[in-house]
Amino acid sequence: MTQDNLGRLLSDVDDYIARTFSPQDEALSSALEDSRRAGLPEIHISPAQGRLMQLLAEISGSRRVLEIGTLGGYSTIYLARALPENGSLVSLELDEEYARLARANIERAGLSEKVDVRVGDARALLSEMRETFDLVFIDADKEGYPAYLDHALRLSRSGSLILADNTIFGGAVIEGSEYADAEEEGVYLREFNDLVAADERLSATIIPLLRERVDGMTVCRVR
Ligand code: SAH
Ligand code: DHB
Ligand code: MG
Repeated sequence: MTQDNLGRLLSDVDDYIARTFSPQDEALSSALEDSRRAGLPEIHISPAQGRLMQLLAEISGSRRVLEIGTLGGYSTIYLARALPENGSLVSLELDEEYARLARANIERAGLSEKVDVRVGDARALLSEMRETFDLVFIDADKEGYPAYLDHALRLSRSGSLILADNTIFGGAVIEGSEYADAEEEGVYLREFNDLVAADERLSATIIPLLRERVDGMTVCRVR
């Protein structure tokens, strides 16, 4: 199979999973449409990944969720939909404009009562936090991932899940590979994965995410 065919196959498979298990309703498609119109970077999770994250939150019975990196609230909607009646989600976002749009998207999805979008540098916001979470999703600046891991562990209990987006980054995490020179993010993400793998408090692996570009999500369970 040629590289071109492989690229098309990955993208067709991702679309197949999305339309079979993660069809876009009004709230999800409008969230993306309004985000695009407002000029936000198109770096939200895929529908297939959203469904996977929602399912992980459901399987773990998560009631309290922390998200680091809101953007337009697309991933927030998937995670918040996994919550029971009395569940809640805190999402941290540096950019005030993004946060405002995210709140509107979350409102349209009927999830405002469960979701609290907080504006500021996640490192500063996290330093002030003391509550415990059942699931933490790390998806902000890649340089911050090692620090976010420390906070996620501090704010977790035994059995909590820690998820981290983009931990393959087109292969940029593979040291010395032809993909590695492409992006400096690879260095931080590799450090993050190595920290996770070496941490005896965590049981973890990476789920590959096969889109036009190969990526992955690190999934950890706190022992
Ligand atoms: N989770 C979103 C995508 C997040 S993109 C989704 O899948 O739909 C990464 C986000 O992290 C951006 O909105 C960016 O503004 C935010 N971000 C970057 N650095 C940050 C920081 N230091 N603190 C908080 N948010 C940050
Ligand atoms: C990119 C993708 C992401 O999901 C993200 O959080 C940051 C950057 C990217 O493809 O550049
Ligand atoms: Mg991401």
